[in-house]
Amino acid sequence: TDNKISRPDVGTAVIGSLQFGYNTGVINAPQEVIENFINQTWYHRYNEPIPKSSLTAVWSIAVSVFSVGGIFGSFSVGLFVNRLGRRNSMLMANILAFISAVLMGFSKMAKSWEMLIVGRFVVGLYCGLSTGFVPMYVGEISPTALRGALGTLHQLGIVIGILIAQIFGLEVIMGNENLWPLLLAFLFIPAVIQCVLLPLCPESPRFLLINKNEENKAKCVLKKLRGTTDVSADMQEMKEESRQMMREKKVTILELFRSPLYRQPLLIAVMLQLSQQLSGINAIFYYSTSIFAKAGVEQPVYATIGAGVVNTAFTVVSLFVVERAGRRSLHLLGLLGMAGSAILMTIAMALLQLKWMSYVSIVAIFAFVAFFEIGPGPIPWFIVAELFSQGPRPSAIAVAGFSNWTANFIVGMGFQYGASACGPYVFVIFTVLLVIFFIFTYFKVPETKGRTFDDIAAGFRQTAAMAEKHTPEELNSLGADSQL
Ligand code: GLC
Repeated sequence: TDNKISRPDVGTAVIGSLQFGYNTGVINAPQEVIENFINQTWYHRYNEPIPKSSLTAVWSIAVSVFSVGGIFGSFSVGLFVNRLGRRNSMLMANILAFISAVLMGFSKMAKSWEMLIVGRFVVGLYCGLSTGFVPMYVGEISPTALRGALGTLHQLGIVIGILIAQIFGLEVIMGNENLWPLLLAFLFIPAVIQCVLLPLCPESPRFLLINKNEENKAKCVLKKLRGTTDVSADMQEMKEESRQMMREKKVTILELFRSPLYRQPLLIAVMLQLSQQLSGINAIFYYSTSIFAKAGVEQPVYATIGAGVVNTAFTVVSLFVVERAGRRSLHLLGLLGMAGSAILMTIAMALLQLKWMSYVSIVAIFAFVAFFEIGPGPIPWFIVAELFSQGPRPSAIAVAGFSNWTANFIVGMGFQYGASACGPYVFVIFTVLLVIFFIFTYFKVPETKGRTFDDIAAGFRQTAAMAEKHTPEELNSLGADSQL
């Protein structure tokens, strides 16, 4: 079964995750260089240097408009996957990557930071779509026993993308005055590679059978994917899934909010997404170079790369322990560790007159990132699928993606303002939020490790029934009927 992990299909799909990571990390190191460009452009137009507040605004928008694109992208996943298919949706999305590469790559030549901002928005659209397409495609082509491990490759693709961006962003490589447009336009190359490789990858057999009713094609693809001619067990499972879906009806986003059946899992799914983003992780991945510089670190860009290495290493750790330790305990441990690290960071920032505090701040940020990847990084991305059964799952993934990207936007846009208002105490905000999410997780999030979807759903039905004073059976029919 090992060769299935290295199947080129999964590798090709997670190029989408890589692009998400790359564009998350890429604007971090060259902040100063690009700010200079914005300033020069401003000077060129208005004959005066850009006011400090305008520069903060332009830069914060350039950073965070990426997540605005992500909000729209993640919410539109459902429009494409059932019409074009999973593979062709991924293929089509690359148009956005090309448009964005051109806009950002030529922004310097055109003396237009507006092109930079629009380019960041467009690549955000692409990444929002990817955060839906990739886990869906990978999940659907994976054999059941490997679905969890292969699913985690999405987060691994993201963190490797961040690391590549940080290394390429070094001044000696592309993070300098002349080459930064190339650094931003680099996403062109993975997009070309994906466009060459995707047509060689099969369409999802689940899509072929369940959505298209093309049994023979589905069989054919499965034989190739599994490397055997006997795929009757897989076909059996897919047909069962198809039957279940007919029984359960499709659940629209509106119905998802209305039915008391889904209230509990929806609250949990959304809160977990919020805990991932409002932990403040992207304050690090968007702004760590300037955080390190403020903390008195001499080579802040290298400290940023260090954070990327720690980030990648601990994602691999999580990959190995998540099936043993369980989601709930790892998430709790991660949130608590992050809260502790945030306190340490605050102490280091507040006592900066002590020279060695800059080292403490490095340790604190590395620990913050390590605890993030233990739980709050990978788990929210795959747990939504576990919390919902076949019918409501697509709508739930859209709502979860929307919450994730919205919180991502708030942090990207607000952090610099928070930092100038609170000074060294800005991470106290995240500490408070982390504690709140810890308490929520402790009381509300059930363990899902080793449980079937059915079992998990039954648990939530029980809770809902108790809250609504109905029996689970009554509620079941009520839930189905009340959906207009
Ligand atoms: C998760 C988050 C993403 C963050 C990354 C850091 O994938 O969704 O926003 O940048 O982890 O590793």
